[in-house]
Amino acid sequence: MEKKKIQILDTTLRDGEQVPGCKLNTKEKVKIAKKLEALGVDVIEAGFPTSSPGDYKSVQEICKSVFKTVVCALSRAVEKDIEIAAKALKGAKIPRIHTGIGTSNCHIRYKFNTTPEKIIERAINAVKYAKKFVEDVEFYAEDAGRTENKFLSKICENVIKYGATVINIPDTTGYCLPEEYGEKIRFLKENVKGIHKITLSTHCHNDLGLATANSLSGIINGAQQVECTINGIGERAGNTSLEEIVMIIKQNSHLNLFTNIDTKLIYSTSNLVSKCTGMKVQANKAIVGMNAFSHSSGIHQDGVIKKRETYESINPEDVGIDQSSIILTARSGRAALAYRYNKLGHFLSKNSLDLVYKIFLKYADKNKEINDKELKIILKKYNFNKKNKKILHSTSTNTGSSRRINVV
Ligand code: KIV
Ligand code: ZN
Repeated sequence: MEKKKIQILDTTLRDGEQVPGCKLNTKEKVKIAKKLEALGVDVIEAGFPTSSPGDYKSVQEICKSVFKTVVCALSRAVEKDIEIAAKALKGAKIPRIHTGIGTSNCHIRYKFNTTPEKIIERAINAVKYAKKFVEDVEFYAEDAGRTENKFLSKICENVIKYGATVINIPDTTGYCLPEEYGEKIRFLKENVKGIHKITLSTHCHNDLGLATANSLSGIINGAQQVECTINGIGERAGNTSLEEIVMIIKQNSHLNLFTNIDTKLIYSTSNLVSKCTGMKVQANKAIVGMNAFSHSSGIHQDGVIKKRETYESINPEDVGIDQSSIILTARSGRAALAYRYNKLGHFLSKNSLDLVYKIFLKYADKNKEINDKELKIILKKYNFNKKNKKILHSTSTNTGSSRRINVV
């Protein structure tokens, strides 16, 4: 069966930048946009031009700096917003306007104080107006996660009639369960007239930690685009993280899906975004966290040293990380200690390793992690305590072999 392409819309520079405390200047945004293009995203949501002159300028500069990627600008369903978005996108090779309005009862009643009929009218007008400027118009039904499926279908049908090319179904408050979100997408695919003419898009927030699971459920049920951010940054608990959804697709070939992402650039892109935004990546973050490919317990280390796949389902090289790390803590075993000494050019005999391991454990119980400098100190100190008894065979050439332990 032929694999189906899933488009990746990266919104790091728009939804991602809405994180409190995160502010990117134009130069940084352009740098990130170029990296996203190299990474292979299909669409870059570059900003919300009406929100500030700085954002307007950033969208303009990004348009001049990327060549093969769609550049998208956000607007509310307001003519002035749409005009400003269109103006900011003037220099784009492939422009897209992303316009929309809240569709849930909560938004209709409390945010707009209006009726569902008026919301449909505003949605149609926004799409019609945006079409005057660009061919590619994406419509978002804000809070679609909490919008009744029947009403959502009606609004989708109407915006398709007036030329929407992409329809975004945001779970704005991270409300849905994966099954529920998947059913929503399936319902739209099966009930909306003209749905086959457009691209249906997921846009999931992570309030309950389900953003990636919901996006996955969305694409399994027929969505063709995922909106996501690098490192999952975004409003409140963030958005679907690009690296997670892309690697899920890559690792699960039975899904028969693929993306255009060059996964080897994932780690460097994550670092760039973290550096520019000042948003540190949590250590246990899937794929790009500091501990994602680190092993510190003896049983796992022994397994990974024998064969990486015993405790890793993803090859770190696939996401641009050189190798897994063996971290030395009080939970580590002899195999890990020997492995790390080996890396430093010291090949311990079995007896020596037994002796050094005992001292190592004393150090490790006092310290969180034992580094190379401390490993060398242990050897020195041990020799001294044992009246210079030679307990190790040291060689200056590191063969690179990860498991060469001389047992004498
Ligand atoms: O989460 C959301 O609903 C959004 C829309 C503005 C697309 O970000
Ligand atoms: Zn959002």
